[in-house]
Amino acid sequence: MDSAIYSITAREILDSRGNPTIETTVILQSGYRGTASAPSGASVGKYEAVELRDKDENRYNGMGVLTAVTNVNTIIAPKLVGLDALDQKKIDETMIALDATPNKSKLGANSILSVSLAVAAAAANHTKQPLYRYLTQLAGRPAAAKIERIPTPLFNIINGGKHGAGNLNFQEFMVIPASNKPFHDALQIGAELYHHLKQILAYRNAIHSVGDEGGFAPNLFTNMEALELLMEAIKATKYRFGTDVFFGMDIAASQFKTPRGYQIKDKPQLLSGRQFIDYLKELNTKYRLLLLEDPLEEDDWAGWATLTREVGRDILIVGDDLLVTNPERLARAIDEKACNAILLKPNQIGTLSEFLAVVALARAHDMKCIVSHRSGETNDTFIADLAVAVASEYVKFGAPARGERVAKYNRLLQIESELFSQ
Ligand code: PGA
Ligand code: ZN
Repeated sequence: MDSAIYSITAREILDSRGNPTIETTVILQSGYRGTASAPSGASVGKYEAVELRDKDENRYNGMGVLTAVTNVNTIIAPKLVGLDALDQKKIDETMIALDATPNKSKLGANSILSVSLAVAAAAANHTKQPLYRYLTQLAGRPAAAKIERIPTPLFNIINGGKHGAGNLNFQEFMVIPASNKPFHDALQIGAELYHHLKQILAYRNAIHSVGDEGGFAPNLFTNMEALELLMEAIKATKYRFGTDVFFGMDIAASQFKTPRGYQIKDKPQLLSGRQFIDYLKELNTKYRLLLLEDPLEEDDWAGWATLTREVGRDILIVGDDLLVTNPERLARAIDEKACNAILLKPNQIGTLSEFLAVVALARAHDMKCIVSHRSGETNDTFIADLAVAVASEYVKFGAPARGERVAKYNRLLQIESELFSQ
C-alpha cells in the first residue's frame, strides 16, 4: 500500500518565544512526506490536554521536549508504521489508546498532535491535493465542496496580560475587519491600523515593545485606554469604525481573577462577577464590541450564561479557557447556553480527528467558530489550511507582524488567490 506510513521522526526545534517544541516528519511508502510542529500556550486553560516538558533545569530552563520526542520515536512510531496515512481516524485512535489518559498526559498532547498533523500533511501530498482541500474531506465535506470564503482575521494589535511586557490586565485588544471584506483587504486594514497605532503609541511615549503575538505591549493607565488608542488609530485612516472595522477583546479572565474577585487597573476596588459583567457591558456601550473572549473565569458557568443571556445577541461570547476545544466542556456550554462561539486550538485537544469532531458539534449547535494559534508558535501554517477547510468564520493568528504570525496570514493569501482569483 503506497499510502502506508514508512517512517515517523520527531525532533526538538525552537518556537517563537525561543522555547523548545516538537516537530515531526512522516514519510509514506510513496515517498511523500509531511512535517508539522506543536505550538504552545502561555495563558493555558486549566482543562487543556497536557503539554509534556522535560522539567530538566539543566536544559532550556526545564522547557525541553526530549521526552516528547522520544515518545514519538520509540513508542508512537512503531505502532503507526505500516498503517494507512489516509485513515486519519485510525491513526488518531491508535495514539489515543496508546496514551490511555483523559488528557494525554502520558505521551503528551504535543507529541501526539505533531504526529497527527504530520500524517494529514503527508496524506495531502500523497493525494496531490492542497492541504485545505484534503482537510475539507476529512471534515466530512465532499471533495468538490465549494469553499465559500477565507475566514475573517482577528488582529490582536495590543498585547496585555501574560503576553505583554506592559501592564494591561486584559490579554488581547483586537481590531476586526468587516466580514464582507475579501481577505486581502482585511489584511491590509489590519496592517495599516497596526502601523498607525505604533505612531500613536510612540507619540505618547507609551510604546514599550511588542508582546508574544506581535501586538504592541504599552504601559497605559487603564484597559479602556487601549480601546481609545485603537479608536485613534482608526481615525487616522480612511476606515470607519462600525462599518469597516470593529473591536474585540480576549479578557483571559482566569489569568487575573483571584478567589476574592476581579482586580483591574480601571477600578480601585475589587469587582465581583456581577460587577465585572457590568463593567464589560459599559465597555460595550462605549465601544460596541463584536467579540469578547473568556470574559469570565473558566469555572464560572453561571456567570457565562448570564452574560450570554444579557448580551449574546449582539456580541460573540467566545469560550477559549472555558471550552479548551474539548467535547465534554463544549456539550456543557451548549446545554447551559454559556457562550455562542468557540475558539478552536488543535493542541488543546491533541489530535486532528478529535478537533474535527469538536468543530462538528459546535456547528450542529450554531456556534461560531474561530480557529486559533497559540502565543508560542512556529512558522507552520497548518492551521491556515485547517481554518479554510472547516469554514470557520474567523481566524485568530495574532498581529499582522512577526514571522510566525505573518506566515499564517500569507498562507491565507495564497489560498485566496488559488481559489478566488480569476
Ligand atoms: P495562549 O493565548 O496561546 O497563551 O493560551 C491565546 C489565547 O488565550 O487565546
Ligand atoms: Zn484566549
